[in-house]
Amino acid sequence: MATSELHQRKHAGGYEGVASNYEETVQQDIAEDNHEQDPSCWSQVSQWIQNVSYQIFAYTVWDSVVSGFKPGRMRAIELMDVQSEDRILLVGEGSGLDFECLPEQTNKLALRAFDFSPEMVHQSKIKARQLEISEENCFIGDAQYLPFEHEKFDKIYFPLSVASIPNPSLALQEAERVLDPGGKIVIFDKLRDDDVPLSWQRTTLNVITKCVFADITRNLSSILASAPTLKIIHYESLAGKLDGVFAKYAGQYYRIAVVVRHEDYPDQMAVPAKLQ
Ligand SMILES: C[S@@+](CC[C@H](N)C(=O)[O-])C[C@H]1O[C@@H](n2cnc3c(N)ncnc32)[C@H](O)[C@@H]1O
Repeated sequence: MATSELHQRKHAGGYEGVASNYEETVQQDIAEDNHEQDPSCWSQVSQWIQNVSYQIFAYTVWDSVVSGFKPGRMRAIELMDVQSEDRILLVGEGSGLDFECLPEQTNKLALRAFDFSPEMVHQSKIKARQLEISEENCFIGDAQYLPFEHEKFDKIYFPLSVASIPNPSLALQEAERVLDPGGKIVIFDKLRDDDVPLSWQRTTLNVITKCVFADITRNLSSILASAPTLKIIHYESLAGKLDGVFAKYAGQYYRIAVVVRHEDYPDQMAVPAKLQ
């Protein structure tokens, strides 16, 4: 299944010419991700700890710890190419730090932002109020089971959330389901490029980071393998582009990707999840 999807993506999306070991690397990642998505006792425990961490972070240091990521938010939102009529969905919005980065023409009435952590949502409502965004537009939700049956969005943005959502493939499938034809999904997060093998050091460190805030081993090609109607059309690094000591150092591990449906953008070439 994964192999045929990969094949479909490669050819439908114009992956011709990518390195021959690309398919092998991605297939290995798919296997790892499938394993990881198994809701084992340990994943449930680490997820539970992560949820508690976010409750505490939201209430205490979150905004100051991630303040250096603002240039990344600005860039991701620039790539969203917000139009005045766009219906925008912010997935795993956290404490609402992206609100102030949205351009003036943003249709605030059609903006929806949610997060799994109630305290994050509480903080986002405070920021929403200050920026004349309706508090009702900020709510508690799970990216893996979007609470929209018929509502569609033109732009869907995952700000630093793809690495924290337990099953990011499911979240991307859900995003695809609620994406209006011609819409765009923008992902800003710490992602492992296709040509970067999963080292034992990263895997070991991940045992801790996964509990505290996020999975640091994720690769976008393998996440998208179970959403074969989607393709990456832009992939860039934030190395040297973030502020502050922490974000500046971490910038090399952060990527912004723009993802669309193949059929909506047939003339746009698909790119692999690695730096060109
Ligand atoms: C690294 S934080 C990013 C927060 C915020 N977007 C930001 O940029 O500051 C990851 C966020 O993803 C949220 N999250 C984790 N699992 C989620 C899920 N299944 N659905 C929605 N949000 C989730 C966490 O609660 C947390 O707020």
